[in-house]
Amino acid sequence: MENVIFTRRSIRRFLEKPVEQEKLERILKAGMQAPSAHNNQRWEFLVLTEQDKKDTVSQMSPWAGMVAKAPVAIIVMGDTSNKELKNWFQQDLSACTENILLQIAQEGLGGCWMGFYPNMERVKMIQDYFKLPEKIVPFSVIALGYSEDENRFIDRSDMSKIHYNKY
Ligand SMILES: Cc1cc2nc3c(=O)[nH]c(=O)nc-3n(C[C@H](O)[C@H](O)[C@H](O)COP(=O)(O)O)c2cc1C
Repeated sequence: MENVIFTRRSIRRFLEKPVEQEKLERILKAGMQAPSAHNNQRWEFLVLTEQDKKDTVSQMSPWAGMVAKAPVAIIVMGDTSNKELKNWFQQDLSACTENILLQIAQEGLGGCWMGFYPNMERVKMIQDYFKLPEKIVPFSVIALGYSEDENRFIDRSDMSKIHYNKY
């Protein structure tokens, strides 16, 4: 029960302590280890450490306030130029986002997933502010950093949701 799949929690309060570059790189590499449809790996990442940029993104969603106080925010984005694979991009980027969250916990840090896509108003705000090419679609924003709040296990298992062979 002790691995990060079970202990990872959404952490929304951060210390001012900076995140080491090697930790940040392992976190991003973990994202790129995710499974993806046809192994297309069409993820890209915008890493925010500058305060004015974090402040602006924190105001793009009513539930993204913590971005302003996080030392780092990662915008997980998809390259949707392949029309055949476009329909799968939400699943690919969800797997990528979860991998990032798990590695954040593994590094002794805390993080929180903020949903942007498919809220197209929020997506457009990011696209406009960062002048992204049209094919690059922001999917999620992840705030991360050191925290006094702990990743800790709470039991959500519900055996009544499991159906063997028939529903
Ligand atoms: C698609 C998605 C969007 C989310 N968006 C937000 C958000 O905008 N702001 C926020 O504080 N938490 C957000 N969360 C985090 C959830 O609130 C959190 O995962 C849930 O309450 C369970 O708590 P835990 O992560 O601590 O286990 C989001 C999670 C997912 C998967």
